[in-house]
Amino acid sequence: MKSDELFALLRRRGVLWPSAEIYGGAQGLYDYGPLGAALKRRVEEAWAAWFVGLSHDYYLIQPAEILPEAVVRASGHLENFTDPEITCENCHTAFRAETILEKVRPEGVDGLLPTQIAEIVNSHHLKCPNCGSPALSVPRAFNLMFALDFGVSGKERAYLAPETAQGSYLSFARMWDVGRRALPLGVAVIGKAYRNEIAPRQVLFRMRSFTQAELQIFFDPAHFLVPFERARDEKLPVLRVPRREAGQESPEWVGAAELVASGLPEFYVYHLVHVFRFFRDVLRYPAERIRLFEKSDQERAFYNRIQFDVEVHLESLNGFKELGAVHYRGDYDLGRHSEGSGRDLSVTPTGGSKLLPHVLELTFGVDRNVWGLADTHLAKDGERTVWRLPPYLAPVPVGVFPLIAKEQAPYALALADTLAAAGVRTQYDDAGTIGKRYARMDEAGTPYCLTVDGPTVADGPEHDTVTLRDRDSKAQERVRAADLVARLRPALEPPRPARS
Ligand code: GAP
Repeated sequence: MKSDELFALLRRRGVLWPSAEIYGGAQGLYDYGPLGAALKRRVEEAWAAWFVGLSHDYYLIQPAEILPEAVVRASGHLENFTDPEITCENCHTAFRAETILEKVRPEGVDGLLPTQIAEIVNSHHLKCPNCGSPALSVPRAFNLMFALDFGVSGKERAYLAPETAQGSYLSFARMWDVGRRALPLGVAVIGKAYRNEIAPRQVLFRMRSFTQAELQIFFDPAHFLVPFERARDEKLPVLRVPRREAGQESPEWVGAAELVASGLPEFYVYHLVHVFRFFRDVLRYPAERIRLFEKSDQERAFYNRIQFDVEVHLESLNGFKELGAVHYRGDYDLGRHSEGSGRDLSVTPTGGSKLLPHVLELTFGVDRNVWGLADTHLAKDGERTVWRLPPYLAPVPVGVFPLIAKEQAPYALALADTLAAAGVRTQYDDAGTIGKRYARMDEAGTPYCLTVDGPTVADGPEHDTVTLRDRDSKAQERVRAADLVARLRPALEPPRPARS
């Protein structure tokens, strides 16, 4: 589906809509309705089950979302968290420089100085994409953070967190004491990040307030042992820098062991494999649509030593889009915060020697993946529209219908309550024909529908049976009501990796 059509469908179904819509909307801000909020929660639960589930020493915390100025000065965000911006002096539209240069430099502007960007603009006589005027401003580095007056004096400055990662770094010393005082130590956060994006666009892709799920793994670079045998046989769709420089855009399938032989650290490849499996096996993006895009020295974020972005090809946005990444940040973060705070963040693990831990960051954009899951799994199937979400991601996993409301409503309502009490989320619906109710649930991604009919009630409490209808095959079978929880619950649990 095209982006506009998909957004219209999601809006109509109450998945999401522009924030402050009655005031004309606010660029880059979106509200989630009941289905969207529930889907987002399921994605977050699946992410936590998978990534926090990787080790007994990985924990989920919830830090504050406002950072004092000293923090963003030390982290480098005050100085470096910028995007080059160009404004049209005729129509006054602000653009990311990348947009102005799109046609002449499709690889983007990462690593270019404003002066180099200006040279490209001038040499190609580039014009405003909005009004066609050649009067474009000199590019400037625009800081993407939202600044706040903090407290009543107006003298203190603070910033809305531009990434959740900073909360993990600020909590590291505390977590060291709370945990087993051993490395690796994982500190995960699922929370809001705020960026004053120059040109918010593509709905959930460039938002000004969005949700990230990030795991920071603190480790000793000399001793980060991982059970690599669990990853060795996986092949990954990588697009490495030399292949890109040779003009290729498609990935090649390379074995995990081969990637290590090429010089990538084992711990890095092990986690890249788990990230790939999360996208393929948990979110169920088709493997052939996934690409692990290696960033070059010039393109990497300022804190990274190794960076592969996880990209998925999305039809609605006409190409590969970054939905997550694996960042090897070295000792940059704890080093900068040790300096900035005056508190030495080095640690001495039991039986080891003192060191400043390095950081491996697994980052994931929750909103972008909500869009990705709609793009990939929501499709027309003849007359019907079906959202083929994995059952454990479905906002509402089970629909419960009385065939004839007047007769079976009390039973169906009681069944819905019994399932809810057992932890199975349900939606009761008695409006319209059964076909219409199935259609509504198909569009909402509900994998199972239960219909209570005449025979159900006649069977008597011991023998009650209901019709269970499967969204994808449309197959129907009679199932004992008493068996439903045991039957449905396993499919509603997100997959977990083997823990180390
Ligand atoms: N802590 C590292 C970090 O923040 P990033 O590449 O800037 O790295 C991580 O962001 C992820 O957050 C991205 O892969 C993307 O999924 C998501 N993301 C970044 N900017 C976003 C925006 N403006 N709107 C929605 N999602 C965004």
